[in-house]
Amino acid sequence: MPSPKFQAPPGTRDVLAPESDRWQRLVALFAEHTTRAGFGLLQTPLFEDIGVFQRMGEGTDVVRKEMYEFEDRGGRHLALRPEGTASVVRAFNQHHPITPWKAWYVTPCFRYEKSQAGRYRQHHQLGCEILGTSDPDADVEVVVLLRDFYQALGLQRIDLVINSMGMVDDRQRYIEVLRTWLTERLGDLADDDRENARRHPMRVLDSKRRQTREVTASAPKLADSLSDDAVSHFDRVQAGLAAQDIPFVVDQRLVRGLDYYNHTTFEFQATALEAAQNTIGGGGRYDGLAESLGGKPAPGVGFGSGIERILLACDAEGTFGAPETRIDVFVVDTTGGAEARDLVIELRRAGVRADRSFDGRSMKAQMKNADRSGATLGLIVGPEERASSSAALRELRNRDTEQVAIDRGDVVTTILSRLGATRDTV
Ligand code: HAM
Repeated sequence: MPSPKFQAPPGTRDVLAPESDRWQRLVALFAEHTTRAGFGLLQTPLFEDIGVFQRMGEGTDVVRKEMYEFEDRGGRHLALRPEGTASVVRAFNQHHPITPWKAWYVTPCFRYEKSQAGRYRQHHQLGCEILGTSDPDADVEVVVLLRDFYQALGLQRIDLVINSMGMVDDRQRYIEVLRTWLTERLGDLADDDRENARRHPMRVLDSKRRQTREVTASAPKLADSLSDDAVSHFDRVQAGLAAQDIPFVVDQRLVRGLDYYNHTTFEFQATALEAAQNTIGGGGRYDGLAESLGGKPAPGVGFGSGIERILLACDAEGTFGAPETRIDVFVVDTTGGAEARDLVIELRRAGVRADRSFDGRSMKAQMKNADRSGATLGLIVGPEERASSSAALRELRNRDTEQVAIDRGDVVTTILSRLGATRDTV
């Protein structure tokens, strides 16, 4: 029987270089922004007791319909993480760190969704959470951090949308008002939204179906049910954003797909992308989550932003592209390979990105590899160079320049000084 041709499962992707170079730089840049703001990296297991995720949002599609759940060999009921926040809060409850506790993460997330462009079954999130403070300035801090990060990537066509979900009691009151209002108009809603009108009235406001949106345009507003405390929290957040000259729109329909939010919610939408998948990052405050997961009450706020979607937005805006080259020097050795072996090691130890061919290939084949590598410089050792203990240095991307002979002992210093002039553009 022929062996099967295995492929990555539907909704998942392999990311190879040079595309993966962008991931590497993206994560490094995010680490720089979060570290500068006092966040520490948090690593948690990719799977948790399924209860961690169920308690976070039993009513949401993410938990009810999309989770990858399984029983391990010890009979434990586990699930792969569909998002990052629940694990952070579980770790917070377990370790009791000093508050406010600021954690950042980069993690794969798993959701059994209908896969399409920008929507995957395994996606990757960069995220930040602050636990242990209800100060609205913390909300402002995470929003501004994410926006500054997008700006550092060169993204310009990004809209910030915010809303207040109020406090639990405000929302409970409002949900009943909305449920009654929607029930009176069930027949006017799109078929697929009718069940939610009963189960999760607020999610109907977030429906992308035009028929439903037309009906809900005149629905009662959560803003009218907010308590004084909720209004004052939201005012402080808006004042903070205004003080930073950050444009934003308040959208009452922004309810988000997870249950745990109260007070502030926000999303960044990339207008260069199709509306269905244009949310590149979102988050908000979740003051009841630590308690729902069995811990002491502790307020929290944070965000998650999908790497794949950020990069799609970068592509659409023509920014943060893959680097043209990953190698500075390609060593070509036609004397058997031992010279190349030692030279690349020497160069790498000096901090130069260096590579070579293997398998004693012909000069022509090695030069082809050198060209493909995108290297700036070629360092060639043939029988003549070897006999005279030298090497020939050549610009690979500018063929008009002369090849120069350098002493074997001067290779590293000569190359370092040559690259000094070009490295910024490499
Ligand atoms: P979320 O909105 O479900 O929030 O996901 C955050 C981001 O992950 C989205 O804005 C999007 O960029 C990306 N994303 C989500 N699902 C997919 C998918 N199937 N394919 C590609 N990208 C996707 C959360 O997960 C919350 N934990 C955010 C948060 C943190 N709230 C407070 N703290």
